[in-house]
Amino acid sequence: MSDAITVPKAELHCHIEGAAPPTLVKRLAEKHGTDVSSVLNGSGKYIWSDFTTFLKAYDTASSVFKTPADYALLAETYFRMLAAEGAIYGEIFISPDHAKAAGLSYRSYVEGLAAGMERAKTDTAIEGRMIAIGVRHFGSASVERIVKEVIGNPHPLVTGFGLAGDERSGHPANFAKAFRMAAEAGLGTTAHAGEFGGPDSVTAALEFLRVKRLGHGVRAIEDKELLKRLVDEEIVLEVCPGSNIALGVYTHLRFHPVNMLRKEGVKITLNSDDPPFFGTTLGKEYSSVTETFGWSFDDQMDVTRTAIEAAFCDEPTRNRLLVRLESAKQVPMA
Ligand code: ADE
Ligand code: ZN
Repeated sequence: MSDAITVPKAELHCHIEGAAPPTLVKRLAEKHGTDVSSVLNGSGKYIWSDFTTFLKAYDTASSVFKTPADYALLAETYFRMLAAEGAIYGEIFISPDHAKAAGLSYRSYVEGLAAGMERAKTDTAIEGRMIAIGVRHFGSASVERIVKEVIGNPHPLVTGFGLAGDERSGHPANFAKAFRMAAEAGLGTTAHAGEFGGPDSVTAALEFLRVKRLGHGVRAIEDKELLKRLVDEEIVLEVCPGSNIALGVYTHLRFHPVNMLRKEGVKITLNSDDPPFFGTTLGKEYSSVTETFGWSFDDQMDVTRTAIEAAFCDEPTRNRLLVRLESAKQVPMA
């Protein structure tokens, strides 16, 4: 009975606005008088049909979070849910651009989210950190503004900087300056690449942004030389299989490269990306990949260990998380 104990989980790639349960979005839309009928259907499901309309639905759903208390509730809800699935650590992507569009300053946004994370941690012991992201299709000036805001308003739980948005727009070279500033300020860095873009996009992110972690990165499987580079440089992939299936990057999980990447020696982690949009959760990602590819308990433990080793947290926290992870093995199986 290898499933008698739940594998402790850790997540490195989840957009907090994309993690908003439709029920919460509906409730806040009513409170603020915001119309979200174009993105939420009668059965409480998000409406979108491709990557472009998904990004639009995501923007509209985000617009109902207007106060620090709204964001606190969102973060608390998400971290409690993660902990209930056996997660001991979660990093969330936060989008100051979306908060700004809803009328909130960077500082109020972060303080709201941090308050929610602390509340969840008090009850569940789940650790969390935030990675501020710039949105690629908003352009380099907006991405540089975000990194300056992060550096100018340091917060102990904001430990990373990243790039999300439409990978098909804007070359990574445009964002090199922002990433250099982030790295010099001691932030961990990650960038979405190799989701809708192919191997060239991954190579460009590595070359121009100097990241050691990649959001998705899965299309590196199409290039042997690049795969070797990922292995040699110990690049960690934030793999989001359910997201890739939902957005049509792959048709079925059995054709997804997550297992092959791992077999080739690439460091991979499992993540939910925008869970209610894609009908997934972190727990579902672990269980569907485990079932599809016949992974063992130890395979799943390895994935969580990789995530904790690559986490943008301080060393004492990392060591505590590793101890919690390894202690899962010592529970006698039923
Ligand atoms: N923002 C939210 N989800 C995203 C994804 N899957 N890819 C790029 N940007 C995103
Ligand atoms: Zn993402």
